[in-house]
Amino acid sequence: MEKQLETIKTAAKSEIESAISRQVLEALRVKYLGKKGELTSILKQMGSLSPKERPIMGALANEVRGFIGDILDEKMKLLAKDEQIEKLKSEAIDVTIPGNTKKLGSLHPLTVVLDEVKEIFLGMGFQIATGPEVEWDYYNFEALNIPKDHPARDTQDTFYITENMLLRTQTSPVQIRVMENTKPPIRIIAPGRVYRADTVDATHSPLFHQVEGLVVDKGISMSVLKGSLMQFAKRLYGNDTKIRLRPHHFPFTEPSCEMDVSCFICGGKGCSMCKNEGWIEILGAGMVHPKVLENGGIDPNIYSGYAFGVGLERLTLFKYSINDLRLFFENDLRFLSQF
Ligand code: PHE
Repeated sequence: MEKQLETIKTAAKSEIESAISRQVLEALRVKYLGKKGELTSILKQMGSLSPKERPIMGALANEVRGFIGDILDEKMKLLAKDEQIEKLKSEAIDVTIPGNTKKLGSLHPLTVVLDEVKEIFLGMGFQIATGPEVEWDYYNFEALNIPKDHPARDTQDTFYITENMLLRTQTSPVQIRVMENTKPPIRIIAPGRVYRADTVDATHSPLFHQVEGLVVDKGISMSVLKGSLMQFAKRLYGNDTKIRLRPHHFPFTEPSCEMDVSCFICGGKGCSMCKNEGWIEILGAGMVHPKVLENGGIDPNIYSGYAFGVGLERLTLFKYSINDLRLFFENDLRFLSQF
């Protein structure tokens, strides 16, 4: 029996020492020390020993059990440590590897300038109004004093959905819609897309953006128009900017004008930006025609108003010295990421 115990001890030692994982060790623990293990089966034979031998063998068996238990525990610790080192190694993070950066987009230049325009007018007490891009002929033309056969329609050909429904050619129809729904005082700007049957080139696009302005109140005069638009020009293009109102014609304003700003590149001396004029035209404006007030349900004997319409693309082209309007719509990141 002593020999058996010695054999178990040596076998267990070598097996445990060469175990490569904790699972294997667990299996060895069962194999040697478990209820049906080798040591237990030997202890079961104790009954056949003489009373003299019994305590000696018992002590020896206990010693072997203790020995195997100890080296099992030790090996277990060792393997756990190795496993942890392995784990740390495999989970190591190399902080010097360049990260996966997410490219942040930027605002479109038209959005940047529109936001600025909104800021300026909101600061002057205006509110923002909107209207549909698919518009009735009535709002886009009729109510704005442009009857069916009016020559002003020739310059604003557009896409017709039906005979009476079209893609709006200007944001001016919002004037009528706002007047129909609002009692004066009215102070709104109405930014939005407009459409015209134009061929694409450096200065034309069948889709572009306008910002309409409308003020209706008692005592609104041309000087109010001039003061507000001067403020607008200075805020947008700098405090040294001068404005110039030239007589013009729009069917829905009377009198009408176009507004130029002094060229902010050359200061008025003449350069390629202003085509040597020293001035750059940026918007159309005028006093709201009495008939248009009436069409909006407002009594022209009590109220007067001014309106203006400015092209957002034009404002932006000048603001950033861009020479081709197509750049706004081509989604070329080399262009867009500059803003
Ligand atoms: N709607 C005009 C245009 O598109 C601009 C304008 C608006 C002129 C308001 C006067 C008043 O040309």
